[in-house]
Amino acid sequence: MSLAALDRLRKQLDGLSDQDLLRQRRLLQSAQGVRIQFDGNPVLSFCSNDYLGLAQHPALATAVCDALPLMGLGAGASHLVIGHHAAHRDFEQAFAQFCDLPAALLFSSGYMANIGVITALVGRSGEIFADRLNHASLNDAAILSRAKFSRYAHNDMVALERLLSSSRAAEKIVAVDAVFSMDGDLADLPRMLELCETYDAWLLVDDAHGFGVLGANGRGAVAHFGLASPRIIYMATLGKAAGVSGAVVAAQHEVIAWLVQKAKTYIYTTATPPVLSAALLASLALIAAADDRRAHLRRLIVQLRQGLQSQGWPLCDSMTAIQPVIIGGNAATLALGDRLLGQGMLVPAIRPPTVPRDSARLRISLSAAHSEADVAQLLTALAAAA
Ligand SMILES: Cc1ncc(COP(=O)(O)O)c(C=O)c1O
Repeated sequence: MSLAALDRLRKQLDGLSDQDLLRQRRLLQSAQGVRIQFDGNPVLSFCSNDYLGLAQHPALATAVCDALPLMGLGAGASHLVIGHHAAHRDFEQAFAQFCDLPAALLFSSGYMANIGVITALVGRSGEIFADRLNHASLNDAAILSRAKFSRYAHNDMVALERLLSSSRAAEKIVAVDAVFSMDGDLADLPRMLELCETYDAWLLVDDAHGFGVLGANGRGAVAHFGLASPRIIYMATLGKAAGVSGAVVAAQHEVIAWLVQKAKTYIYTTATPPVLSAALLASLALIAAADDRRAHLRRLIVQLRQGLQSQGWPLCDSMTAIQPVIIGGNAATLALGDRLLGQGMLVPAIRPPTVPRDSARLRISLSAAHSEADVAQLLTALAAAA
């Protein structure tokens, strides 16, 4: 076919391939977990965000099976028509209580939650302040909002203060990954909250990688730092440590009431299957009681970091389950990933534009479902692949 637009796409795809930037989908042929079947082979995986190992937990499957005959599968309508099920409401109430915040709202995904919150709270007269390493969904939300989009160097609180102090915007929101998704380090939430208080801004905390893992009972990064403020809008994704799907935003009653009126990614989409909310309720109980899993995960993180250090790999400033090994070049990172795969170990190679240029990396993610022997096996494989 000689459509010019198709030729252009073909050339662009070839260009990505030439730069080792072509992304491939891997075919998972088992349940998500640490021992998975992919492309016909069994591997030990260090890829998923299933940090507590709950995705396969029987209590979640049982919750879905028990709820299915009562609720059916599809929600059939958006929340504001007739898709808002008692199961959604029950989970929202339980989550708000769990996080000690007045109210919560369930979204279909973290991507949609970030877009919904930011576009509902700031418009043309507003300004969004964002860390350069924030997740793509926060960046897209900022662009879609038409507000001024001011980015500062990673974790640079002096630069953030400079931007806030010179802002003339009517509404301001500081939006940040609490745990940076490709680096694993923490945002300086205490300082950010101080700045938000001084300069009258909202603080949107995207806790995709902290909820379930950090803080007392897994309440997340805000609890980890012991913070509380009506300015905080807390967003947790539910497809990672919670082992299910979706996202939830918790904040003051007025914020949630406003989101119900104005967040388009909440309003103009079919509600998630209510059985997922039944599973989420079960997951919340598991998370609250998962101190053993969190302690085991912390031990694995220390074991991995000590092993990486003794082999001379560059370590990132991360004490979370996300442990990147920055290699730099795309081809070298892919080659290292392939050598690990040859030893039965699956570790994703993350390349630009997900990470900045020349900082391609292996993103090792640990789960409480890994054993110490699994981590030792990865370290042996890394030594052999180096
Ligand atoms: C920091 C961060 N925010 C938001 C998201 C999006 O969440 P979801 O997968 O639920 O769309 C992700 C990853 O998926 C993430 O890493």
